[in-house]
Amino acid sequence: MEKLVVTGPTPLKGEVTISGAKNAAVAILPATLLIDGVCTIENIPNISDIKISCEILEQLGSKITWNNKNSITIENSNLTTTKAPLDLTSKFRASYYIIGAMLGRMGEIEVGMPGGCKLGARPIDQHIKGFELLGANVTVEKGTIYAKAKKLKGSPIYMDIVSVGATINVMIASVLAKGTTIIDNAAKEPHIVDVANFLNTMGADIRGAGTDVIKINGVEKLHGNSTYSVVPDQIEAGTFMLAAVATRGDLIIKNCITKHLESITAKIIEVGANVEDNGDSIHVWCNKRPNKANIKTLPYPGFPTDLQPQMGVVLSLANGTSIINESIWESRFQYTDELNKMGAKITAQGKTAFFEGVKKLYGAPVYSSDLRAGAALVIAGTAANGVTEIYNLEHIDRGYENIEDKFRKIGAKIERVNE
Ligand code: UD1
Repeated sequence: MEKLVVTGPTPLKGEVTISGAKNAAVAILPATLLIDGVCTIENIPNISDIKISCEILEQLGSKITWNNKNSITIENSNLTTTKAPLDLTSKFRASYYIIGAMLGRMGEIEVGMPGGCKLGARPIDQHIKGFELLGANVTVEKGTIYAKAKKLKGSPIYMDIVSVGATINVMIASVLAKGTTIIDNAAKEPHIVDVANFLNTMGADIRGAGTDVIKINGVEKLHGNSTYSVVPDQIEAGTFMLAAVATRGDLIIKNCITKHLESITAKIIEVGANVEDNGDSIHVWCNKRPNKANIKTLPYPGFPTDLQPQMGVVLSLANGTSIINESIWESRFQYTDELNKMGAKITAQGKTAFFEGVKKLYGAPVYSSDLRAGAALVIAGTAANGVTEIYNLEHIDRGYENIEDKFRKIGAKIERVNE
């Protein structure tokens, strides 16, 4: 079993470069299934979710060449099956994008229910509603989703809740549909804009991504033969911003889009740390104990739920009592039990947690319950006095490229050890 061993406290200092966005890349890869040709994707994060995504595509007939560790070329001219491997699709959440892409390209798909982080109930009713409005017949039996359509037809679709996954999935499915689709109450996250930009580069006609109304005029074909570079990861950038604050460090975070980080910047300033926006990099430093602050997670442009645990580490060390209200996922406070093992004083009740700030955290053996909880524990271990051992690394490896290398380069004493 692998574990990360972190010895602290270390104020993180120096420069760190952000990788391509996981949540964009895991949608762009399946979206290539719409292209009857070749395309190259650059700035792909080298993480396990991407490797599994490639395995699924290869089993459907994609030919994938890795040009280097962050660039792949995909050829989807000869898809050979409409049955996705059930064991692989259940390993991560974004496997649901195979449904939208294969319905669009082949008019048929059989796929396992998606897996991913256990953050509470994760229904896909809005995805299914969207596919049905486009004319597909969708059934779910014993954990397998069967979706079929002769030819998808554009339709107005009102999303009952703001869903990142449903917005992207229905957008992907609509690209080759006949006529116009209008997605109302769409999610606005940066990765939605990135998937739309990718598809438009390949010949799609998508307008309004990044607003709450997206209009997709169906086209006959996507042409491929293009190269696309994935947007920098908003959540990875935010993770390092909050790591700088929690460890009272000084970091220049390169290759990020500072506009995507405004809600995080605002909270970092509120807790009394410093942020300098340098256009394509952001400088964050903190030389005193953070102040308390209250957080409510919201869809973009609100404070992202995927940075809530990392912010929780900052608030567990703050001067005073802070409150976090988690409005997206019902089980996102599992990490607070682990922080309490390190000396934090956090009480979680349902979707609200109270953080009575302590002056110091202390190293302890801790378990990562999900991807972002794992990142929070790496930050906590770097800020804490003594040795922290972090287990369940498979969660962290799903979404962070070389987390220990990146932390080590900015001063953390961190090793991956095979027990
Ligand atoms: C995506 C992100 C995840 C992030 C989340 C919210 C990916 C691969 N994952 O997850 O990291 O935490 O956005 O920013 O991009 N819901 C329904 N019915 C549906 C779909 C969603 O009720 O059909 C609910 C969910 O239970 C949740 C809320 O809507 O309460 C938001 O979920 P959604 O935005 O869809 O999250 P994901 O796309 O799964």
